Amino acid sequence: MTDSDPNEPRKLSKESKEEALRRILKKRSDIAGEMNGVAKRDAFSIPESHYKIEKFSDYQTLTLQQSLAKKVNLESPYFQEHDVLARNTTVIGGREFINFGTYNYLDLNGHPRVNDAAYKAMVEYGTSASASRLVSGERRPHRELEAKIAEVHGTPAALTFVSGHATNVTTIGTLLGKRDLILHDRLIHNSVLQGALLSGAQRQPFDHNDWRGLDDLLMRSRRKFEKVLICVEGIYSMDGDVPPMPEIIEVARKHKALTMVDEAHSFGALGARGYGIGEHFGLKPGDVDIWMGTLSKTLAGCGGYVAGSEALITLLKHTASGFLYSVGMPPPMAAASLEALRIMEEEPERVRQLQANGKLMLELAREAGLDTGYAIGSTVLPVITGSSLLAVRLSRALFELGINAPPIIYPAVEERIARLRFFLSSAHTEEQIRFTVAQVADQKKKLENSPL
Ligand SMILES: Cc1ncc(COP(=O)(O)O)c(C=O)c1O
Repeated sequence: MTDSDPNEPRKLSKESKEEALRRILKKRSDIAGEMNGVAKRDAFSIPESHYKIEKFSDYQTLTLQQSLAKKVNLESPYFQEHDVLARNTTVIGGREFINFGTYNYLDLNGHPRVNDAAYKAMVEYGTSASASRLVSGERRPHRELEAKIAEVHGTPAALTFVSGHATNVTTIGTLLGKRDLILHDRLIHNSVLQGALLSGAQRQPFDHNDWRGLDDLLMRSRRKFEKVLICVEGIYSMDGDVPPMPEIIEVARKHKALTMVDEAHSFGALGARGYGIGEHFGLKPGDVDIWMGTLSKTLAGCGGYVAGSEALITLLKHTASGFLYSVGMPPPMAAASLEALRIMEEEPERVRQLQANGKLMLELAREAGLDTGYAIGSTVLPVITGSSLLAVRLSRALFELGINAPPIIYPAVEERIARLRFFLSSAHTEEQIRFTVAQVADQKKKLENSPL
């Protein structure tokens, strides 16, 4: 053996190269073997329901429900394909239905002026905002829509988001934190609950519309928290009634709490001009800290908004993750909602007709002995069946008769208050409403007398 020069790269003989290669390969296969062993051992202890989606318990429950429904010949009433723009009527599978499944409250979705505004904005700006407004900038329809929403609510500013649901999630998630408390009506929408989860704040429901209970809760716990936010809806989305807003505002003031009203179903429906619960009760814009609404219902678009003080809007615009890290609203959508809002103002008879339709349907339903829960007769009318099965069967029977009214069943609501939910529109005719209520009462009676 000769001494090798330490500066020379080590030269290996053919034999030693093979040896080295064998050594490396063995080491690799030893490592792989060990890893395999570990993986195998672990795989035995991890149930499939923890890593296979088809084994997730929620998925199993869902498929079980679906197969049970099939067994009793109940076709799913959900995810129907509609062939046309859904208004007071719709067409499903080539057949026309009276439609109560769409919240086109003032019949503005598909209005020629709304379509035209969207089309013009599309030609000018394209179909997408193409990035967050922070980086991709804003377009005229964004600014005009926000200025108009602020004007209607009488607030200094407003901000729009690409989803109504995300508006609540990100607004509440941004404004509240773990030292704070969120108090909400027991019937509040899921988006508020998700916002509360995101915020990390403590959350406490109060009984439906029970402002005295709210006052008690605050009396006991206000001092344990920094910020307190009270959340209610302008018209409750499942129940169709209105919160006692003046009393809630008084309680909030007394305890130095913030208030937030979700006007998803009340904007366009309450007040002489349809401006919502503020107009309904004659409130001042500053009486509520956070006015929230959706653009997907009365305003014939998609997305949500928050209206309020400059401080609120500036804070959300610069820190709300659902705004900053999400694309801006497509300009055609913003233009559509802006035009819808202009028509709503120019044609207040739409609001009056919607209000009259709501009252008529409620009156008739009560006369027919139907349980309409808390409803006041507006955009949303529940007919409570008290069982998910009856709700699904009733919805199916009505469908056969040419009426589209989807059921709301457990777990969306408690089983004992399963229901059909009717969304009213200014376009529904008296004849459609009378026919529907008569059929609901008749079919419900028949089904109650013929259990499966
Ligand atoms: C009360 C309420 N808030 C928020 C939302 C979410 O709005 P969007 O469907 O526009 O996302 C809804 C949905 O219908 C709702 O009913």
